[in-house]
Amino acid sequence: MSDLIQAGYLVAAVLFVLGLKGLSHPRTAVRGNRLGALGMLVAVLVTLTHQAIVSPWVLLGGVLVGSAIGVALALKVKMTSMPELVALFNGFGGLASVLVVGASYLEVTDKSIVANTLNLTDTFIVAAAVSALIGAVTFTGSLVAFAKLTGRAGTWRSKATTYLNLFLLLLGVAAAVALFLQPSTTAWLLAIVIVGFVVGVTLVFPIGGADMPVVIALLNSLSGLAATATGFALGNSLLIIAGALVGASGLILTQVMCTAMNRSLLNVMFGSIEIGAAADPDDVYEGKVRRTSAADVALILDTATRVVMVPGYGLAVAQAQHAVRDLASTLEDRGTEVVFAVHPVAGRMPGHMNVLLAEAEISYEALVEMDKVNPTFAQTDVAIVLGANDVVNPVAREPNSAITGMPILDADKARTVIVIKRSLSPGFAGIPNPLFALPNSLMLFADAKEAVIEINEALKEV
Ligand code: TAP
Repeated sequence: MSDLIQAGYLVAAVLFVLGLKGLSHPRTAVRGNRLGALGMLVAVLVTLTHQAIVSPWVLLGGVLVGSAIGVALALKVKMTSMPELVALFNGFGGLASVLVVGASYLEVTDKSIVANTLNLTDTFIVAAAVSALIGAVTFTGSLVAFAKLTGRAGTWRSKATTYLNLFLLLLGVAAAVALFLQPSTTAWLLAIVIVGFVVGVTLVFPIGGADMPVVIALLNSLSGLAATATGFALGNSLLIIAGALVGASGLILTQVMCTAMNRSLLNVMFGSIEIGAAADPDDVYEGKVRRTSAADVALILDTATRVVMVPGYGLAVAQAQHAVRDLASTLEDRGTEVVFAVHPVAGRMPGHMNVLLAEAEISYEALVEMDKVNPTFAQTDVAIVLGANDVVNPVAREPNSAITGMPILDADKARTVIVIKRSLSPGFAGIPNPLFALPNSLMLFADAKEAVIEINEALKEV
């Protein structure tokens, strides 16, 4: 039986690896997702047969309740809210590690249980301490990230939080050492968990502006590392492998996000950038913003030979991807060159714009990355900014702002910039955007989908 279980775990692990491999390319992503889900099903079924863990009926009950919640969420949650959901998933992954390792620890130290499957070995104690600390940090850190993404929490940053975090982390390590020295005193494990909960809040709370993508990726990685540590504590090879895959891919994503934001991880976590007060919107915009209409935009596009579309979060909100594809087709039929400039953190999750545009079957060849598209803006007749804001905000080039240092798409360098959004409201970073007041900018205040449909209709009649 034990061999069968190990073989089942191996099959699940191979499916996870193949699933991840599939996810590395848009064309194979759907298959990769299915393979990963199949791997999880195999893992759950094999675990169900592993009666030493818990009664299979309890696990089956959990699977049914979990599946029902999963299906309800998948049907209800909008694509634009996915990052919040992912933040919650990360958090509950961390909490699950804390609970599993905590229950196992209580079981191991309970002298009344004779037939214990685990022993209070050094490996078990160290793994339990690591899992408890990282899992607890992941849980509360993810809840704070969720609150920030949904606009329920702001950002408060001071030098003191850096020292407080370092002190708390030392406290957590001290409690872990104490647990190692007095393994039967479970209060030390509780102390580690409490310190972890506090660190999660104090670590993520000061991070804001454009750095949230990095934090989400890091929390994702931490949830995997906590699971790996739990796997070591339980001696469960599948948990070790699955956790390591999540931890490693999360770390790679964190690195990719840091590179995209031109920041080091330490810089993001311990915020050495001084953020000055944001400019007053009235000073930035008053008397300088020029409005336009769909009909006028069509006339401008009529003479354009090269158009760069800059999609952003608002495109996802408006679900304008199909309308944008139609406009791009109309332009191309008229001989205009059209490309899509994709910023790595446009939207609210990694690859958000790629997924959105792929949904409308816009070819991957038409999507151009920031480094490649930026030098071409100077030779571009029209840049159409579609519900993007922070990723085209020239303030990023100046010191002391919430997005300082973040590389941006140089849409402001195009001959004409058409910005389609509903108002002058700021984007995620909460700061005004001087691009909207530049002499070569025109604002089309409207929902992105409605505006693009109107422009397309007007263009067909020109
Ligand atoms: P944002 O700067 O957030 O701006 C989006 C703009 O879309 C808003 O200014 C909004 O203006 C407009 N909008 C909303 N609904 C619209 C609609 N129906 N039609 C037209 N416009 C609409 O977006 P961005 O430029 O894509 O930048 C992304 C930001 O999110 C960055 O700061 C990034 O760091 C952060 N972030 C990214 C991620 C990842 S991984 N991508 C994760 C977390 C945070 P109106 O209200 O005036 O319409």
